[in-house]
Amino acid sequence: MDDIIFKPLTFRNLTVKNRLFRSSISGRWDNYDGSGSQARINWEEKFARGGIGAIITSFVPVHVRGRIMPNYAMIDHNDKIPFWRKVGETVHQYDCKFIVQLSHSGRQRDVPGVENLMNKALSSTNRKDGFHGLLCQAMTREEIRQIVQYFADGARRAREAGLDGVELHASHGYLFTQFLSSGINDRKDEYGGSLENRARFLLEVIKAIRREVGDDFHLQVKINAIDVNNALYPWEKKGNTPEEYLQICKWVEQAGADALHVSAGSLFPHPLVPPGGFPLDEANWWYGGMASAGVRGYLNYTIFHFKTLRPIFRWLWNRTKKDFPVEGVSAEYCREIKKNVSIPVLNTGGYQDGRLIRKVISEGYCDGVAIARPLIANNDLPKVLQEGKDLPDKPCTFCNRCLVNAVANPLGCYDVSRYGGDHEAMIREVMTVFRPQPFA
Ligand SMILES: Cc1cc2nc3c(=O)[nH]c(=O)nc-3n(C[C@H](O)[C@H](O)[C@H](O)COP(=O)(O)O)c2cc1C
Ligand code: SF4
Repeated sequence: MDDIIFKPLTFRNLTVKNRLFRSSISGRWDNYDGSGSQARINWEEKFARGGIGAIITSFVPVHVRGRIMPNYAMIDHNDKIPFWRKVGETVHQYDCKFIVQLSHSGRQRDVPGVENLMNKALSSTNRKDGFHGLLCQAMTREEIRQIVQYFADGARRAREAGLDGVELHASHGYLFTQFLSSGINDRKDEYGGSLENRARFLLEVIKAIRREVGDDFHLQVKINAIDVNNALYPWEKKGNTPEEYLQICKWVEQAGADALHVSAGSLFPHPLVPPGGFPLDEANWWYGGMASAGVRGYLNYTIFHFKTLRPIFRWLWNRTKKDFPVEGVSAEYCREIKKNVSIPVLNTGGYQDGRLIRKVISEGYCDGVAIARPLIANNDLPKVLQEGKDLPDKPCTFCNRCLVNAVANPLGCYDVSRYGGDHEAMIREVMTVFRPQPFA
C-alpha cells in the first residue's frame, strides 16, 4: 500500500524513513548528577524497535540551573558525550534517527534539587510562575550571552556524539517561551517589549548554533502556535496570538532552522499540552515533592490535596476543550504556519489514529507528526499502522496518568483499564524499562 505515513521525509540535512517522530517524553531515568543510565538506553530502544522514524529525546538541560528535576540526563559538559553516543548507536541499529532536545527551564523548574537550592531560577522576568511559585530573576545581558553559548555547546556535543540533530525546546513555558510570550516577558530592554525584541534570544541561539556546528547539522525548533496563557490563570494576559507565532516561525526559518515542530500552551502541563484528562487523585499522590519545592503561586499544587478545591482545577483544565479537540489539538494553527514557511513542519498533540495522521499529512497541515503518549501506551504503534490498522487494540486514552506519575515514578502507561484492571500487570509492564540490565 502506498501509505503517506511511510514515505521518507527529507529535511535539508536529514532523511527520516517515515513521518512518525517520537515526541519528547521526560522521565527521571538517570543519575542525580545528570549522567545517563542504562534505563534511558532501554527506554529509547523500545521506540526504535517499534518502528518510529526518529526519536526526539526528552528535555535535556544545557546547564544544571535550567534543569526541571534531578535525574534527567544533561548535555552540559563534554564528559556526557560518550553516554549520548551510546544511546545514538543503540537506536541507529533500527534505522531510527536521534535528535536531542536542548532545553532550559527558566523559572519553570519543578524540583530544583540541591544544586539550585540557593539560587533563584533565571528567566526573562522577576515574576514567579503562577503554578508553584518558584522564585526567579530576570537575566542580565551577561547571563543571556552565557546561556546562548550553553546551547551552542550542547549542539556541538550532540554532533560530536554522532547524533542526527538537535531541537530547541521553545514551547510549553520553558525559558524560550518566557522570552517569546507577551504574557510572561515584561522586560524593558532589547529582549522585551516588541515581538522582534522578544524573539531576539531564540534567534541569537539559532545563529550561535549555526556558528558552532555549521549549516549541515539538523536543527529544528519546537514552538507554540498559540499560548492561551490565561487557560489556567484567567486573570493573566493571553500571551502570543497565532499571528505573532507565525511571524516568529518565519524569523526562525530565516535564522537557519531546518524544521519547525508545532505545539501549543504556555506552561507545562497545560490544557493544550498534553491535551486530555487530568487525574486529580494521582496528582494528589505524586505532586507532593513539587508542592514543597515551590513557594506559593496562584495555583499551588496543594490545590490537589483539598477535595473541595479540585472542581476549580477541573473546570480550569476543561474549559478550553470546546475550542481545542484532544486529537490534533493544534492542527488548524499548524496548517497556517506550514502555509507560510518552506521548511518541513511537524505537529504534536493527540496523534494516534492512522486516519487522522494520514489526513493532516496529505492535506498539508504538516509533513509529519510527533507522538508521545500513544507511543508510551503502544511502543510499536508505527508497526501497527504499517500493518494497515488505524488504531492499536488497546489505544492510549489520553488520561494523562503517565504524565502525573512521571514526577515520582518510572515513566510508563498507568491507565489500569488498559491492563484489564490488573494493577500488578501494569507495574510489570512499566518496570520492563529496567531490563535488560547491563550488569545482571
Ligand atoms: C510524561 C510526559 C513528558 C513530556 N516531556 C516533554 C519534554 O520533555 N519536552 C517536550 O517538549 N514535551 C514533553 N512532553 C509533551 C510531548 O512531547 C507532546 O508534545 C505532548 O504530550 C502532545 O503529544 P501526545 O498527544 O502525542 O502525547 C511530555 C509529555 C508527557 C506526557
Ligand atoms: S497513562 Fe497510558 S493511556 Fe493514559 S495518557 Fe498515558 S499512555 Fe495514554
